[in-house]
Amino acid sequence: MNRGLILKAGQLFWICIFFSFSLFGGEGMWLPQLLKALNEKEMKSMGMKLSADDIYSINKGSLKDAIVHFGGFCTSEIVSPNGLLLTNHHCGYGQIQSHSTVENNLIKNGFWAKNYKEELPNEGLTATLIDYIDDVTEKALLGVTPGMNAGDRQSLIESNIANIRKSYSLESYQQVVIRPFYDGNQYFAFVTTVFRDVRLVGAPPESIGKFGSDTDNWVWPRHTGDFSLFRIYAGKDNKPADYSPDNVPYVPKHFLPVSMDGIEVGDFTMVFGFPGKTNQYLPASAVNQIITTLNPAKITIRDKALKITDKYMRADEATKIKYAAKYASIANYWKKWIGESQGLKQTNALGEKQAFEAEFTRRLSAESPYSAVLLDLNRLYQEIEPYALANDYVSEILFRNVDLTSTISSVRRLVNEYDKKGESGYLEMLPKVSGMFDNFYPDFDAKIDQEKLTALLDLYVKGVAPSFIPSGLKGTSSGKNPDFSIIVEEMYNQSLFSSSQKVSELFEQSADIAVKKIKTDPLYLWVGDWLDLYNRDILTPYTTLKKEIDAKQALYTKAQLELFPEIRFYPDANSTLRVTYGKVEGYQPKDAVTYQPVTYLDGIIEKYIPGDYEFDVQPRMLELYNSKNFGIYADKSGKLPVCFIGSNHTTGGNSGSPAIDAEGNLIGLNFDRVWEGTMSDIHYDVSICRNIMVDVRYILWVIDKYAGAGHLVSEMKLTHPKTGKKKR
Ligand code: ARG
Ligand code: GLU
Repeated sequence: MNRGLILKAGQLFWICIFFSFSLFGGEGMWLPQLLKALNEKEMKSMGMKLSADDIYSINKGSLKDAIVHFGGFCTSEIVSPNGLLLTNHHCGYGQIQSHSTVENNLIKNGFWAKNYKEELPNEGLTATLIDYIDDVTEKALLGVTPGMNAGDRQSLIESNIANIRKSYSLESYQQVVIRPFYDGNQYFAFVTTVFRDVRLVGAPPESIGKFGSDTDNWVWPRHTGDFSLFRIYAGKDNKPADYSPDNVPYVPKHFLPVSMDGIEVGDFTMVFGFPGKTNQYLPASAVNQIITTLNPAKITIRDKALKITDKYMRADEATKIKYAAKYASIANYWKKWIGESQGLKQTNALGEKQAFEAEFTRRLSAESPYSAVLLDLNRLYQEIEPYALANDYVSEILFRNVDLTSTISSVRRLVNEYDKKGESGYLEMLPKVSGMFDNFYPDFDAKIDQEKLTALLDLYVKGVAPSFIPSGLKGTSSGKNPDFSIIVEEMYNQSLFSSSQKVSELFEQSADIAVKKIKTDPLYLWVGDWLDLYNRDILTPYTTLKKEIDAKQALYTKAQLELFPEIRFYPDANSTLRVTYGKVEGYQPKDAVTYQPVTYLDGIIEKYIPGDYEFDVQPRMLELYNSKNFGIYADKSGKLPVCFIGSNHTTGGNSGSPAIDAEGNLIGLNFDRVWEGTMSDIHYDVSICRNIMVDVRYILWVIDKYAGAGHLVSEMKLTHPKTGKKKR
């Protein structure tokens, strides 16, 4: 085939893609303040009865006043006039775990506060509301010119942002967050109010909240009651305050009413929350690198680490509690990356990106400032590959999967402070470091950690370029590796950091003595050598290249916006407030198989495996099922709905986001995506990308019928938007 023909094939392909763009595709995470201009019409055509103003307004209470960034990593929503917050079980998991012991295991048994007094405080947990959003693009890009080099551009933008920040006069409880959109072509400032007293109100037992656990994670059909309840507390003036027993439940500007009328196939749905990070506008070369190099490495590392942890968790109840949250978080993305790579291949993401790039190139004019941008990006991705790979290895091993090594960076900062400023520097830093260790040891088991490190070292030396291997880990000239298990065992046995007792003794010493001891600690020295090599030979070149990539990506995204005026582009997720909308619909995961969009309690009973680690069901649940005690929560057919799916474009961070109906009522709680569609962070495909939500009627049934905590349901406002029934 000659070049002309290839281009033509590319064009044809592009035309097909273009037409699929112009229909409603479910795709997009939209800015709430721009809905009027970009989305309102389409949303209404899909059945929405609200106006853009009802969703986001700075002049009156709107839906956004009920949407809360939970701890900065999940979403939650206010569902009562008393600041009651609904989020996922897996979002509140760390807190539920922290209140659990073998004797009083809230993970296993669930927890329901009977009154305000019994609600449990959680140090460090925040709940953030958005007050208003400003477009600050002009000020952020002031003085930026197209020819600027990547470093200068970044520093200029950083100093512009610092100036913007200063221009806001805020209350003590407010913050301003300034974020880039469209890869740095637009900037918005978010003024937020941050509440610091957020208490645990209720959580189902994990046999409900985590039903199906890792086997069912990212999978449809699903039957998880993934919810928990918290409450925002405020000072007597209804403003944020530090925890105090005198604080009172927060009175919100808006809370979501709950629809008891349920959902049907084709119903309009909207998910409102804080999606974390997506990469929709990458070049094909970057996607290829994710599929062939980076995802496989991370998957292999986590696979090893998880198997080791799992073995210990299954053998011992206390270990299971200790490692529950850490394990779930590592397992979550391990599985996600597997699904993502698979989905990218199955939906021909590379082919579609390449066709897009061919069309992009065709549209470039002779003197376009974007002519070289794709070539530049492709070259840069090639150059960064060994560093990106090694960076992932080190981050996964030293900072993410092995716990003790991840503490050493803080210890190094402590020693640095001492070296720079002497005792005063040390003492200033010490509370932070010892606080970090206080939180660390309760969830730490040296034996498990050692076994993981040993196994992962083996992967490291095989996986990265030889120059990235620290001298202590290098093999002999005959190719024989040192015995990592001996190295690791000796280090853990001798290190001052391998037990809380040794660390407290260390920190009781004077600064001079403590630092002297630290500086001869074998683990400190060994990790330190590795980190020095990492910072110098991996991270520094990686960061330099990454800055260049970011600058070129900014240019590439700008070019896409300009050259494809027919496409309605939405900015990548960046942990800011977004709206995504779609409808309740099933999908075809593979040839001849169709998935229905709703699951029922019957499915839980089908999956039930008595005594199983993941699929056990409590007797109370069986009893309620057998007596068909569904109260007002059953659907028209008399069955109890559990979960449903829809074509809303969501990602990590959207967990706990409300699923909202055409009139602004809560119908469900977002908590996951389907396996076939987990590549939607990079390449969305409406035919198989679905988000998974728990039906709100199941949540209420669990609270009321299962747990007998009907007082919490009474706090909510139940509505019947479809049947027009009066409030109970
Ligand atoms: N996959 C969901 C999300 O990304 C739920 C994860 C929690 N569950 C688990 N088994 N790890 O966060
Ligand atoms: N479970 C995810 C979270 O924690 C949401 C699912 C997704 O990634 O779409 O945010």
